[in-house]
Amino acid sequence: MKHVLITGAGRGLGLALTELALAKGAVVFATVRKMNAQISDLQQLYSDQLIILQFDVRDEAAIEQAAKKLTQKEKHLDVMINNAALLNERNKTIEELDINASLEAIDINTFGPIRMIKHFLPLLRKGTNPSIINISSDSGRLTKTYVHDYPYGLSKLALNMLTEKLNIYLRDDHIQVLSVHPGWMHTDMGGQQAPIDPNEAAKGIYQLIDQRITVSEGCQFVDYEGNIMDI
Ligand SMILES: NC(=O)c1ccc[n+]([C@@H]2O[C@H](COP(=O)([O-])OP(=O)(O)OC[C@H]3O[C@@H](n4cnc5c(N)ncnc54)[C@H](OP(=O)(O)O)[C@@H]3O)[C@@H](O)[C@H]2O)c1
Repeated sequence: MKHVLITGAGRGLGLALTELALAKGAVVFATVRKMNAQISDLQQLYSDQLIILQFDVRDEAAIEQAAKKLTQKEKHLDVMINNAALLNERNKTIEELDINASLEAIDINTFGPIRMIKHFLPLLRKGTNPSIINISSDSGRLTKTYVHDYPYGLSKLALNMLTEKLNIYLRDDHIQVLSVHPGWMHTDMGGQQAPIDPNEAAKGIYQLIDQRITVSEGCQFVDYEGNIMDI
């Protein structure tokens, strides 16, 4: 039985990934900042499989504590999906940017995954065919950049760099490390006009994990269907 940890599990893609992992029979450690009706319903439905961890990915002490607690109870973790993210300061010009708000997005989107990996890596190292999936975005590409969304674009580009560094660092541990663009999805972040259902993206992401997709040349960055993304 796979043990899967998913951040930002309360809504959007995180919720879709959680529902699918539970339906596939995995034990899921789902992180939320606050409980909500959907997560409570899942907890009732899957009381044996779903463990809720409550913290903000900016709070390193809370993450460390959660990792310690989990290590006492669980022997391993097979998959970590760093999904939680913030898209703020949208459509602002550089002159209009609020620097503190921009730092918040980078703190969540880049340093959130860093904190998670820092503290949960010992459990992942004991997993079977372990995977770290960093949910990135095509907004984090140098080759297809656009004006606006400064903090978000910077944070996802930096996240892609984190994936590359970890891919080298964890090579001997045989841990799959991937950045995945989930597509433009209709979630709170993507808006209702977006074409992709987060459940479809979630399905694709689990296929990447099951098939242990890696990129042989270039960066470890693919979309949810496994197509290589250039940076
Ligand atoms: N939607 C798209 O079209 C699209 C496109 C490309 C990439 N992505 C990426 O896909 C992932 C999921 O996006 P989404 O569309 O599902 O976003 P979403 O609907 O806005 O959901 C964001 C999730 O992140 C959590 N979160 C935000 N800040 C957090 C913090 N400080 N600590 C812990 N959790 C936090 C939220 O929790 P709360 O409920 O507590 O706020 C929520 O669960 C993100 O990494 C995003 O960058 C999305």
